[in-house]
Parts: sequence; C-alpha cells; structure tokens
Amino acid sequence: MELVWTDDLSIGNAMIDADHKMLLDMVNGVVHAIEIGDCSVLSYAFDLLDGKLRTHCAQEENIAQAINFTFTRHKLAEQYILRELNYLKDELLDRNCVCCEDAIKHYSDSLRGLLIGHITEDDRLMKPVLQSYPYNFNPVGS
Ligand SMILES: [Fe+2]
Repeated sequence: MELVWTDDLSIGNAMIDADHKMLLDMVNGVVHAIEIGDCSVLSYAFDLLDGKLRTHCAQEENIAQAINFTFTRHKLAEQYILRELNYLKDELLDRNCVCCEDAIKHYSDSLRGLLIGHITEDDRLMKPVLQSYPYNFNPVGS
C-alpha cells in the first residue's frame, strides 16, 4: 500500500512537513522500483531518497538548534536510517533486484517503516516545541 500524507503526520512546521511529503513520495518511488525489479531505476530512486534525507536532516538540525531542542538522539536515529537504507539498497542490488512477492513486501514494509518511524517517533518529539512557533517558522529566513 502506497504511503499517503495525512494531517496527523504533521509535526508543526511547514518546511519539515513539506519535506516529509516529498520523502513519502520518494519512498513510494523506491517501492515501485522494487516492484518492477529494475536495478538502474532502483539505484537512482535510492540515491534520490538518500540525498533528500541528508538535506532534510541538516534542515531539521538547523530548526532544532533555533528552538533549543536537543538533537543528539535524533541525530543517531538519522544515522541509523541512512545506514539501513544503504543496507537495503546493497542487498537488493546483490540479488540483482529479483524479488519474489514476499521479498517485495519485506523490503517495502522496511522502507515505509523507516520513514514513518522517523516522522512519528523521532520528529514528533519536536512537535510540542514547534507548536509554540508559527507554522511557517524558518530560522534561515528569519
Ligand atoms: Fe524529518
């Protein structure tokens, strides 16, 4: 099942929410690549996701600093997600992107779980603090 943005995924900041919507689409793109079993599409989709996740995390760190939110735990969680993404990518490429239905489900669920966990467990910790700022709070633009 495709990941779809819902308002309960909001963590109270426009920039972060916009990034998360984009990341949901990117995970859907990787899942699609897994389903069609095309290694070049899959590799490209993983690289896009990895790059976006890195810039997103840097942006979140800027916001966390601006609102005096301790980012240490979050940073470790980000490193874990990036490692897991690379692990999944390498594993899929090692098997030449050929997956049975169960394997497709396993990889897809793992990817979706990583992103949803990032939003609902790691980022949600910032939500109570972010809600005391305007929704469009942007430390770079202020
Ligand atoms: Fe995030």
